[in-house]
Amino acid sequence: MTQTVDRIEATGSPQARVDAWLSRFESALAARDVEAAAALFAVDSYWRDLVAFTWTIKTVEGRDEVAGMLGDCLDRIDPSGFRTTETPTEADGVTEAWLEFETATGRAKGHLRLKDEGAWTLLTSLRELKGFEERRNDQRPKGVEHGVVRGRKSWAEKREEEQTRLGYEQQPYVVVIGGGQGGIALGARLRQLDVPTLVLERNQRAGDSWRKRYKNLCLHDPVWYDHLPYLPFPDNWPVFAPKDKIADWLEMYTRLMEVPYWTSTEVTSASWDEEKQQWLVTVIREGEELVLTPRHVVFATGMSGKPNLPSFPGMDDFEGDQHHSSQHPGPDSYAGKKAVVVGSNNSAHDICAALWEHGADVTMVQRSSTHVVKSDSLMDLGLGDLYSERAVRSGVTTDKADMIFASIPYRIMPQFQIPVYDAIRERDKDFYARLEAAGFQHDWGDDGSGLFLKYLRRGSGYYIDVGASELVADGKIKLAHGQVDHLTRDAVVLSDGTELEADVVVYATGYGSMNGWVADLVGQETADLVGKCWGLGSGTTKDPGPWEGEQRNMWKPTQQEGLWFHGGNLHQSRHYSLYLALQLKARYEGIPTPVYGLQEVHHKS
Ligand SMILES: Cc1cc2nc3c(=O)[nH]c(=O)nc-3n(C[C@H](O)[C@H](O)[C@H](O)COP(=O)(O)OP(=O)(O)OC[C@H]3O[C@@H](n4cnc5c(N)ncnc54)[C@H](O)[C@@H]3O)c2cc1C
Ligand SMILES: NC(=O)c1ccc[n+]([C@@H]2O[C@H](COP(=O)([O-])OP(=O)(O)OC[C@H]3O[C@@H](n4cnc5c(N)ncnc54)[C@H](OP(=O)(O)O)[C@@H]3O)[C@@H](O)[C@H]2O)c1
Repeated sequence: MTQTVDRIEATGSPQARVDAWLSRFESALAARDVEAAAALFAVDSYWRDLVAFTWTIKTVEGRDEVAGMLGDCLDRIDPSGFRTTETPTEADGVTEAWLEFETATGRAKGHLRLKDEGAWTLLTSLRELKGFEERRNDQRPKGVEHGVVRGRKSWAEKREEEQTRLGYEQQPYVVVIGGGQGGIALGARLRQLDVPTLVLERNQRAGDSWRKRYKNLCLHDPVWYDHLPYLPFPDNWPVFAPKDKIADWLEMYTRLMEVPYWTSTEVTSASWDEEKQQWLVTVIREGEELVLTPRHVVFATGMSGKPNLPSFPGMDDFEGDQHHSSQHPGPDSYAGKKAVVVGSNNSAHDICAALWEHGADVTMVQRSSTHVVKSDSLMDLGLGDLYSERAVRSGVTTDKADMIFASIPYRIMPQFQIPVYDAIRERDKDFYARLEAAGFQHDWGDDGSGLFLKYLRRGSGYYIDVGASELVADGKIKLAHGQVDHLTRDAVVLSDGTELEADVVVYATGYGSMNGWVADLVGQETADLVGKCWGLGSGTTKDPGPWEGEQRNMWKPTQQEGLWFHGGNLHQSRHYSLYLALQLKARYEGIPTPVYGLQEVHHKS
């Protein structure tokens, strides 16, 4: 697109500027003039759409891509009614506004960052489908039919009947494989949207995916970041919840939110029936095999669920205990023993610290550098404006915080994050100096953008320091560097010949891509078709390009009809489960959902 920048008047109040932009934007959209609409964007601009325009999760960049997207979607989306929901603000030459608007099928929210040159960022997010609104507040279910009803059935009886029927006499429309916090949150949303769904969990109890983790585990993210949809934690909930408490909350939540949830149910295979346009999902439920035939299958099997267990020569000869961090029983039986922990990120630090606290002699094996950030600094500088008591007091609700985070397109997120980590670097410089003096290799991400971007790009590579780094700095947790070469009867041997005696070896070596679950349950061909999950294509370590703009395969249509992925941390699980649930609900109700720009596959796993 070549026309000159269509400048927005820089005079007037922020409200007047936003109103002027919205009015011109809406007129251009109503006239189906995609060139005029695109000209309202700055040359460097980003429109992040969460299902409202594209029926997927997609960011388009620059005017040409904006025009391309609108050219495809505009007629059928038919957006209208753009208005601000609160008074816009202005700082450093950027005016920010919260928006509402409608589409042909739904109601949506948005966020705009406006510069002199035009829109810099625009977020559009579908929030509900017209005619299929969740029954909340004054629309909530009555719960009882007043009057006299012969043969009346109680709520419990009706629930019992429903539970007995689903999966046997009535097939679910959606099967969610995996009932961790991801599957549970999605199950709750689909329940509220009346989409017949079954969440299948191989563990015996909801919450077991947390319960079974090493015993000292506490969330590293604070309570304000961790709420589940609909039912926030009470205001006396601890800031960093212990894993068993989270497990109990999830179990209680599953019951209260009436999530259709089968425990002790393992999915053993799934295949897509092209002719019938449905899945055949084979499950073993409490020992009995049955086949479910949903239209959609969601893999909620966990981003940190498929252990990456290395295979080193000599592992079979090793006579002590050895296990992946996900199988680590905790430190109790290792008092006075020699422990070698392979890996140097979150799991490794948590496990090393607990082993040290219980009197083990601990060595951490670091292969490459780790981003370390002190919890206090992260809570204050990294999360404090969005997820904290301070944020709540200043009116930043959980939903607003989620939307603020979502409003920053991934391409420019580093420029928002780098200053935060520069400030942390300065604030904690003595701490980092001590860590370096102890020989610990640490980094700030390839471009200095810190933890969140490492997480979004690769889901790994950091430690949120809640104490273990002090043990490393003091030499109480010993450090070894390099690649493991082999194991002997009683030692881990590194490639430089260093021999580390060990009674127990913990492989805190991280997790494999969710794509691996598809390979296991559906087959390699489908896994290859769908490609790698997670990452942005940033071209940084462990996140190969090309640039994708959004996280690969997460919460959006994939190259395999009817196959979806859901997962991530508690914040992502809460926020993105809404968009995934709306995409599934629309399909269930027969609302056309033509996807704009189905993501391409550049990497298989
Ligand atoms: C040690 C650790 C600490 C973490 N701490 C935090 C934190 O502080 N804050 C945060 O936000 N995130 C944290 N995370 C990241 C993330 O929130 C968790 O990994 C979380 O458990 C992810 O939830 P999930 O539902 O996506 O996956 P999971 O909890 O892994 O659940 C997946 C479920 O799928 C089931 N399953 C797998 N295959 C099948 C099958 N074939 N049939 C039936 N069921 C199956 C599993 O049994 C499991 O219960 C942490 C992760 C780890 C590993
Ligand atoms: N309390 C908490 O909140 C908490 C605790 C634990 C985990 N988690 C979450 O769980 C996820 C995974 O963290 P994680 O620490 O388990 O995994 P991770 O970040 O992937 O770290 C794996 C570590 O193992 C090393 N490694 C991998 N393969 C190896 C091999 N063959 N030989 C030697 N070293 C090897 C890696 O080194 P390289 O970098 O060289 O590959 C890295 O140091 C993260 O999202 C994290 O936030 C959270």
